[in-house]
Amino acid sequence: MCKHGKEMKVLVACEESQVVTKAFRKLGIEAFSCDIQECSGGHPEWHIKGCAVEEAYSGKYELMIAHPPCTFMSKAGARWMYPVAGIVSRDRYFKAIEAKDLFLKFLDAPIKYIAVENPVPLKIVGLPIHSQVIQPYEYGHEFSKKTLLWLKGLPKLASTEIISEYKPYLPSNTGGKKRGQKYQFKSISQKESSKTFIGIAEAMAGQWGKYVK
Ligand SMILES: C[S@@+](CC[C@H](N)C(=O)[O-])C[C@H]1O[C@@H](n2cnc3c(N)ncnc32)[C@H](O)[C@@H]1O
Repeated sequence: MCKHGKEMKVLVACEESQVVTKAFRKLGIEAFSCDIQECSGGHPEWHIKGCAVEEAYSGKYELMIAHPPCTFMSKAGARWMYPVAGIVSRDRYFKAIEAKDLFLKFLDAPIKYIAVENPVPLKIVGLPIHSQVIQPYEYGHEFSKKTLLWLKGLPKLASTEIISEYKPYLPSNTGGKKRGQKYQFKSISQKESSKTFIGIAEAMAGQWGKYVK
């Protein structure tokens, strides 16, 4: 039950890995992942394959955590947005605006408690100001990967275990390799690299699950 006397249901929108969904389920909270892809997390019975916007507007959920696609909005993609210094790629810009539209549909969904997660966006996309910046190394992982949260009705996520020695999870994409970036990156697919860190998922489930309950 949530604090408003309703059975508590959580939607984890745009999640195929089920990392966050499983963290909520571990605490006995009914959570569902929703993605246009099949789930890879091993629990198809907790997965809704389809458009997460429809689920977000269905009126079934008290809490939603959304991980909308960031490829065209992210600052890490600056060199594709500006292939020639100072000149915007029209194609890339229109894709970014499409992604922004999806992002805002999640942020504006009729759900009392909302967290939308994304990396640092390009200024030109004009996303609203975020509520908080988090890093995997604040949640027990030895990596940095700057992650922004846009929160509605939820308190900021508190760090759980700060690791003082950490390395970047992903290359900077700004020519670091050519400049002799010291750290050797493991080669991982885009799908793999966009999975939520378990420490962050557990913090979300533990802290926000308790808050909404
Ligand atoms: C940046 S990834 C987030 C992955 C997530 N962190 C995870 O651990 O699975 C974005 C995800 O959004 C999904 N997606 C894109 N459009 C969607 C939509 N309209 N409804 C549901 N999922 C969508 C993609 O298939 C992809 O899995």
